[in-house]
Amino acid sequence: MCGIVGYIGTQSATEILLSGLEKLEYRGYDSAGLATVYNGQIKSVRAKGKLHNLREKLVGIEMPANIGIGHTRWATHGKPEEYNAHPHMDDTGRVAVVQNGIVENYRELRKELENQGHQFVSDTDTEVIPHLIAEFLSGLEGKREAFLEAVRQTLKKLDGAFAIAILCADYPNEIIVARQQAPMSIGLGQGEFFCASDSPALVSHTQVVLSLENREMARLTPLGVEVYNFEGDRLNKLPRILNWSPALVDKHIFKHFMLKEIHEQPNVVRSCLETYINSNWDAKNSQISPTNLELLPSLYKNLEQVEILACGTSRHAGLIGKYLLEQLAGISTTVNYASEARYAPSPMRENTLIIGVTQSGETADTLAALAMEQQRRLDKPAEFQSRFLGITNRAESSIANLVNQIIDIRAGIEIGVAATKTFVAQVMAFYFLAIDLGWQRQYLSGEKIAEIIDGLQKIPAQMEQMLEVQDGQIEDFAHQFNDTQDLIFVGRGINYPIALEGALKLKEISYIHAEGYPAGEMKHGPIALLDDKVPVVAIAIPGLVYEKVLSNAQEAKARDAQLIGVIPENTEADVFDNVLTVPAVDELLSPMLTVIPLQLLAYHIAAHRGLDVDQPRNLAKSVTVE
Ligand code: AGP
Repeated sequence: MCGIVGYIGTQSATEILLSGLEKLEYRGYDSAGLATVYNGQIKSVRAKGKLHNLREKLVGIEMPANIGIGHTRWATHGKPEEYNAHPHMDDTGRVAVVQNGIVENYRELRKELENQGHQFVSDTDTEVIPHLIAEFLSGLEGKREAFLEAVRQTLKKLDGAFAIAILCADYPNEIIVARQQAPMSIGLGQGEFFCASDSPALVSHTQVVLSLENREMARLTPLGVEVYNFEGDRLNKLPRILNWSPALVDKHIFKHFMLKEIHEQPNVVRSCLETYINSNWDAKNSQISPTNLELLPSLYKNLEQVEILACGTSRHAGLIGKYLLEQLAGISTTVNYASEARYAPSPMRENTLIIGVTQSGETADTLAALAMEQQRRLDKPAEFQSRFLGITNRAESSIANLVNQIIDIRAGIEIGVAATKTFVAQVMAFYFLAIDLGWQRQYLSGEKIAEIIDGLQKIPAQMEQMLEVQDGQIEDFAHQFNDTQDLIFVGRGINYPIALEGALKLKEISYIHAEGYPAGEMKHGPIALLDDKVPVVAIAIPGLVYEKVLSNAQEAKARDAQLIGVIPENTEADVFDNVLTVPAVDELLSPMLTVIPLQLLAYHIAAHRGLDVDQPRNLAKSVTVE
């Protein structure tokens, strides 16, 4: 949430900052701004709305500096207006700050500062930071390292989860950055250094990256980067190599990142299979694990229960995970909204594996729920404290500090705000986990495991076949929904979470009101909504609940709803007005395919409406505030 960039080197900072912000705009796009230091003065330019407004505003303004910081905002405190846009300054205009996150105690701090004569011009929590730094700077006048020290003193006063970057007109060759529970990385170039709240802003400049840990800060100068902890100790940190191709953050031939990412799904599944299926596995040899997950024995010893904590699409993957863990491994599983679980935790049981699912690894609600679970186990035996697993696309992200092991879903960076390829990769992680636990607990036979793996191996080609045919077909079909205001998605069993996911995708990018329901639940109330203006999408895959879903679909049709079936090729389609087909597939594996037409439907409806698919209103890719 919110994107931060910074640059210090020999090139003109403004263009580097703007192109970095472009790469981070998916993190927030309510307003944008940047500040540079030149000739001992800070020059700051800010604009309401998307980044192109800032670009337009900068035309004709000379910004020759080689040092600067920039920000793209997702509003938390204060409306998305220019006066709330970052960078924020102290009242002398000597200190400029950009922040990602929330300073929770900003009200008290603001009051204190106002009593000391500081004047505030925004409604934000961030503005207290430059004022505090300026206040400490005035007390440190003439002292060595005063800027660094003033920031350190300021950090001690701030509560909350945030990352910041700071410029000071009196220290024209320094950027100071700090991290407290929100991501901040530093890119090491040749004679130039970058900082960013997320790596896409760095990859076109350098692949050598230092990630700050919690309560670490760094000073960037033209000569290098020094890292300190908040206590002021200098730290030796080794950079890592990203190995990210700049093409990953490029739309390629696609109109939107979301469409590109939908088309990347077959390869994502392939890479998951290559990474996590053990090619040496033999159904007849019970000693060899079918997966390469290499789960820590402490995670599953005497395991009785799993609790999944997640938000949004990741929670939907978790619901499929519940189905798989219960049906394939016989482990009772609960799935909780992370934002709810923190304040109404389930009773603690010793032999519970807690799984946090988050593609970004930075979702504040999920991190807070995991931290709460850790906290309340602190006085319990060690065994009890070490049952935390993370499923994420960003192994280096904050979730790594809260779990004992990570399953890295390796989907590659996802830029579209609507999660697609990370969803299918998370679901794959649950197949692997369920197979692994089913095998460890001797709940699954070798034949069944072989059958599942065989089916999973076919998924990438089946996805490719669907994408090739259906992208164009669904693009045409989507025109029908130009005036639609409500849409219902129904499914049962393992496809119920896909109904939820289809509805979420449609809501978030097309702004059409959509709901996902277990098909059998419609008759208990929601069916009252149906008439000829409310289409119903029913996911009907032959298997355990097929006949039941067809009956529920009939009930909807009898209320005049236009009925759209997501069904396998060559199956009975009479009940449906339209069908979106998937290759014949076992019901157990079907979510991997049934989700695709729903992603495409949401995408094409939104694209036809001319909406900003990759950056839908009011949303941001990683939600780093609670
Ligand atoms: C998905 O399309 C949404 N943008 C959103 O629901 C997302 O899944 C949720 O915010 C959780 O994000 P995470 O996976 O990064 O934790």
